[in-house]
Amino acid sequence: MIDYRALLALHLIAVPLFVSGVLVTALILPSLAAGEETPRRQAERHRVRRWNLILTTPAMLVVWVVGLTLAAEGGWFAAGWLHAKIALVVLLTGLHGMQSGRLRRLDRVGGVTRAPVWPVPAILLLAVAIVALAIIKP
Ligand code: HEM
Repeated sequence: MIDYRALLALHLIAVPLFVSGVLVTALILPSLAAGEETPRRQAERHRVRRWNLILTTPAMLVVWVVGLTLAAEGGWFAAGWLHAKIALVVLLTGLHGMQSGRLRRLDRVGGVTRAPVWPVPAILLLAVAIVALAIIKP
């Protein structure tokens, strides 16, 4: 059986990789989506999409799988804070899914898909609330 602290360390390595990936993509997406299509923008879009595929998405999967394993190992499934946390993580995961869809569409059709800026504060608020719930465990 894997040591609980080793799992927690893995969870806490994957969390900032996931959150920073979603946040940086949310910041960059509006400028990738608007304006003239140029080879440079195309290359930038490719880079952001590759980052999403090789780092942000795998980090998100690790956060989920290891988080659920920690919950099972630690007997946390009865705790209210964990239910609230999982609900907020579902929202964060949904925002990441939206981003991935936008990046895919942008890669297919070029810079014609508009991207909103509201995901930036939404991601920040969700991340702060999730970390606070995990640490304070109200
Ligand atoms: C559905 C996915 C997730 C599940 C099931 C989950 C579950 C857990 C569990 C059971 C713990 C161990 C609590 C302990 O032993 O003290 C933990 C720790 C932690 N999680 Fe998650 N987690 C998930 C996603 C996330 C996300 C997305 C973040 C951040 C945005 C996050 C941040 C943290 C932090 C900061 C801790 C350390 C708490 C401490 O050691 O006091 N988790 N998580």
